[in-house]
Amino acid sequence: MAMQDEKSKHSPLIGIDIGGTGIKGGLVDPEKGELIGDRVHVPTPQPSTPEAVAEVVAQVVAKLSARPDASVADSPVGVTFPGIIRHGVVHSAANVDKSWLKTDIDALLTERLGRRVGVINDADAAGLAEARFGAGEGVSGTVLVITLGTGIGSAFIFNGKLVPNAELGHLEIDGFDAETKASAVARERDGLSWEEYSLLLQRYFSHVEFLFSPELFIVGGGISKRADEYLPQLKLRTPIAPAELMNDAGIVGAVVDIAHN
Ligand code: BGC
Repeated sequence: MAMQDEKSKHSPLIGIDIGGTGIKGGLVDPEKGELIGDRVHVPTPQPSTPEAVAEVVAQVVAKLSARPDASVADSPVGVTFPGIIRHGVVHSAANVDKSWLKTDIDALLTERLGRRVGVINDADAAGLAEARFGAGEGVSGTVLVITLGTGIGSAFIFNGKLVPNAELGHLEIDGFDAETKASAVARERDGLSWEEYSLLLQRYFSHVEFLFSPELFIVGGGISKRADEYLPQLKLRTPIAPAELMNDAGIVGAVVDIAHN
């Protein structure tokens, strides 16, 4: 086996998590699901057009590629996007510039980075990472990973396999698109106490529980590190756990997706 193949097989891969607020990247060991070294974090450009975001992604990839433990220059890059992704094309853009709609993000980033790229929905990536390395490891049946961030994302995992593009953040609850009231950003925007926010989450999770009867809920997104503030207040039949990979789940999941799928 050529030296380069050997290196690419054992080296960390780059994962990039594109969010409505920030673009994060890191080197990830695809077998252990662990981040190697620090994350790189850049605010999402505004307006978050495809060209502006692709430029930031390229800068983050260049920074990570320059690290001594980076993988070979032509190794694939895993990327998440906060919208529906079908065959590399964006089909929804709730929290990013609407010019993303119908953009072939896979082709755009492959061209911009000059290396193979795999793009997956951000919550689906978090779900893959949690199912393989985190709170959902070894759990059979339906596991729903709900990410509370700029919006509400969801991943539907069944027997460890992802059923892609579940959009449970857009369930209509009490006449509103759920994420407009119950996302982490909505909590801050509306100045809600944890108690007030817990009431919204109770309403949301009870409804999702009724619809899907999952074995386990996992709560991800930046707010998962404050889980003590709201999880104990929720009364559900279903066990509910914070994401173990916390805010790294997207980056890790992007790499799991490209390395194993
Ligand atoms: C989008 C989802 C995304 C979620 C979290 C929602 O507005 O529709 O695709 O996963 O936000 O970013």
